[in-house]
Amino acid sequence: MTTEPVPAPLPRFPRDFLWGVSTSAPQIEGAVEEDGRGRSVWDVFAAGAGRIKDGSDARVATDHYHRYREDVGLLRELGVGAYRFSVAWPRVVPDGHGAVNGAGLDFYDRLVDALLAAGVAPVPTLFHWDTPQALEERGGWLRRETAERFAAYADVVAGRLGDRVERWITLNEPAEVTLLGYGLGQHAPGRQLLFDALPAAHHQLLGHGLAVQALRARGATDIGIANSHGPTWTASASEADTAAAGLYDLLLNRLFAEPVLLGRYPDEELAALLPGPVAEDLQVIAEPVDRYGINYYQPTLVGAPAAEGAAGTDEATGAGKAAGTDFGGIRLPPELPFAPREIEGYPRTDFGWPVVPEALTELLVSFRERYGDRLPPVVITENGCSYEGIEDRERIAFLDGHLRALHAAMAAGVDVRGYFVWSLMDNFEWAEGYARRFGLVHVDYATLKRTPKASYRWLQGVLREQARG
Ligand code: BGC
Repeated sequence: MTTEPVPAPLPRFPRDFLWGVSTSAPQIEGAVEEDGRGRSVWDVFAAGAGRIKDGSDARVATDHYHRYREDVGLLRELGVGAYRFSVAWPRVVPDGHGAVNGAGLDFYDRLVDALLAAGVAPVPTLFHWDTPQALEERGGWLRRETAERFAAYADVVAGRLGDRVERWITLNEPAEVTLLGYGLGQHAPGRQLLFDALPAAHHQLLGHGLAVQALRARGATDIGIANSHGPTWTASASEADTAAAGLYDLLLNRLFAEPVLLGRYPDEELAALLPGPVAEDLQVIAEPVDRYGINYYQPTLVGAPAAEGAAGTDEATGAGKAAGTDFGGIRLPPELPFAPREIEGYPRTDFGWPVVPEALTELLVSFRERYGDRLPPVVITENGCSYEGIEDRERIAFLDGHLRALHAAMAAGVDVRGYFVWSLMDNFEWAEGYARRFGLVHVDYATLKRTPKASYRWLQGVLREQARG
């Protein structure tokens, strides 16, 4: 007989709080060559030698394209009110512009109908990193044209699904696409432009604003963006560490929040590096959104890079450890003007990420302080962790801790309307391949069999309890 401690019940969330789980097309769908889908940057990137750590690719992934009915059944059983998935741009518009692929739209049509029949609200994200390769070959997000193409594609999707979809998300984490895809080259499209990647940020934000306009023109009333955010902790009070942490916070948090929420870039020198009529674009980027989506995983402790030649040498402080080394799965080049440091004293996920639920409270309260009434109601569009195993007690502890932290932020006055777990099921974790398992449902990649984990059962219990009112 097990003697697991019974966790204390969670505090009560509002009755209309939206509970959900998230996935994305490139991480689960597979079927990359079926029914007229065009190639995406991830198809091309993953095919390159040495890009994906376990040598895998997402051609089959979890085969959700064929098994979506079973997956919708898992959502229904779980008891969530909403499901955040992404629409694959190259499935709908194979070349990124021009001809629309009706068969691609049909898939999302079937998915939305199946969700609605199961009593689960569909929450599509229009872009979760899978730029059509044809557009990438013309410059991808480095070109303004891509923002316009994106809005045209948003219009096509809304034209087909808008009669049944109420909630929309434009982009997922433009910060990661900019940093990892165009800056460091560790994600698709694999460009290593460092600070020359900044136009990709601006064009994604512009694409967001134009897509908001396109969705509004189709009658949408609940639109948001999913930005990744986490508190930046400063390694020490020294001037150098403070400046480095400030720059990191500016590039990873403020650069993506402030244009959307305040209609301005957080720094004039930085804005001067951006292409096009930036002031006019900012008016588009700041089109009011109804929800602000935050993907939260962890805080980051940041200091100045170690002095030249000293990288990796300071055992006591960890200074320089990250320079030119692996940090939470990401290789950081030594020339960056900031250096993330290891956060000590907290449990870690199998990915090595620190588990710091209270940083979610800190983040939300700081957003409320920074942006005041300009911050629309928040939805946590992703939060989760990577652990092995089906009896995933650590994931339960992670989710339990983060839900309490979320509730604390709400009690402190932050208006939060929903929470989505990343992820419904194990999936293709980008450059890590299949080695990292974020799912509430285990996927056996040899057979594609789905097995609900202990965390799935736990969440099911939480949702039942919360529904009891
Ligand atoms: C992304 C997901 C990813 C998750 C875990 C987020 O950055 O939106 O696609 O799988 O984090 O790394």
